[in-house]
Amino acid sequence: MALAIMCSGGDAPGMNPAIKKFVDYSYKNAQESYLVYDGLEGLIDNNIKKASHHDVAGIMHNGGTILRSSRSKRFFDVKYRQRAFENLKAHGIDGLVVLGGDGSFRAMERFSSEFNINFVGIPSTIDNDIYGTDYCLGVDTALNVIRDSLDKIRDTAASFKRAFIVEVMGRDCGFLAIVSAMISGAEVCVIPEVEFEHEKLGKRLAKEVKDGRKYIIAVVAEGTKKTTQVYNWLQDEIGLETRVSILGHIQRGGNPTVYDRLMAFDFTIIAVDYLLTHSDSNKVAVYQKGEFKLLDIQEVVSHKYELPKHYLRAVNLLD
Ligand code: F6P
Repeated sequence: MALAIMCSGGDAPGMNPAIKKFVDYSYKNAQESYLVYDGLEGLIDNNIKKASHHDVAGIMHNGGTILRSSRSKRFFDVKYRQRAFENLKAHGIDGLVVLGGDGSFRAMERFSSEFNINFVGIPSTIDNDIYGTDYCLGVDTALNVIRDSLDKIRDTAASFKRAFIVEVMGRDCGFLAIVSAMISGAEVCVIPEVEFEHEKLGKRLAKEVKDGRKYIIAVVAEGTKKTTQVYNWLQDEIGLETRVSILGHIQRGGNPTVYDRLMAFDFTIIAVDYLLTHSDSNKVAVYQKGEFKLLDIQEVVSHKYELPKHYLRAVNLLD
C-alpha cells in the first residue's frame, strides 16, 4: 500500500513533526510513503515525490512545513481536481493524509464526493476553529508566541501610563484571543462570538483610571474588525494614550512546543492506522475530551466550531 501526506492552507507549527512521524511510521509498517509538495497546487501539478528518511531528517523542531503549502484557486475547478486525482492514481497512492484547516477540509470533502479518494484529515490551524475537535495542531505554539508578546508588552505598558491593544489572529474565531487574554491577565478582550458591550466596562475602567490605574491591556481578535473602534474607545472615553500592536504572521511561526509535537505524533498514527485498515475513508482525526477519534468529513464541514462555554465567561474580564 502507498500513502501520501500533504499540507494545505495556512501552515501551522506541528506540521513538520507530523510529516516526520508519517514517513517513519509508514516505513515501520512496511508501506511506501509519498510527499506532496505545495499543497493542492502541487497535487494538481504532480509535485509528488517518494519519501525517504533523508527528506525528513532534522525537521522535528522546525515551524512551518518542509512540504510548503498553498491556498489553491484552481482546485475549485473540477478540471484540476480531475488532474489531481489522476496524479494520485499514477503514483499508485491508495491513501492521503491532509494537514489543513476548515477550508482545506471543505475542498477534500468536495474532492472525495467526486472521486474515489481515500483520505484522513488532521486538524492543523492556529485558529482552533474546526468542528468536532478540541485541539488543532499549532495552537499551543501560537498561544505561546502570543503569551510571550503580551508579557513583553506588559513590561512597557507598566512603565508608562498607556493602554495597549494587541490584535491577534484566529480568522472568525476568538479562541486565540480569549485564551491569551485569560492567561496574560488582560483587562479587555474582544472576540467575534460575544457582543462588545463597552459601556458598562468603560464606566468601570474610566473610574479605575481616575482612581490611579496606570495601564490597560486589550486583546482584540482580528475577526471582530474592531481594533480601530477599541482604539478610539480607550483613547477618547477611557482617557489613556493608546498604542496598537498587530501581531500578524509572527503567530504562525516558531518551533513547535512539546505539546504540538506529541499531538502531531498521535494524530498521524491515528490517521495512518485508519488508512491502512480502511479502503473507503473520508475522515478527520479529532481530539475530544482527551480521546482521539475519527469523524466523517461531512459532519466536520457541515458544523461550526463553538468556543467552550466556560471561556466565554472570561470576556470583558473586569465586567
Ligand atoms: O488560518 C490561519 C490564519 O493565520 C488566520 O489566523 C489568518 O486570518 C489567515 O490564516 C491569514 O492567511 P494568509 O496567510 O493567507 O494571509
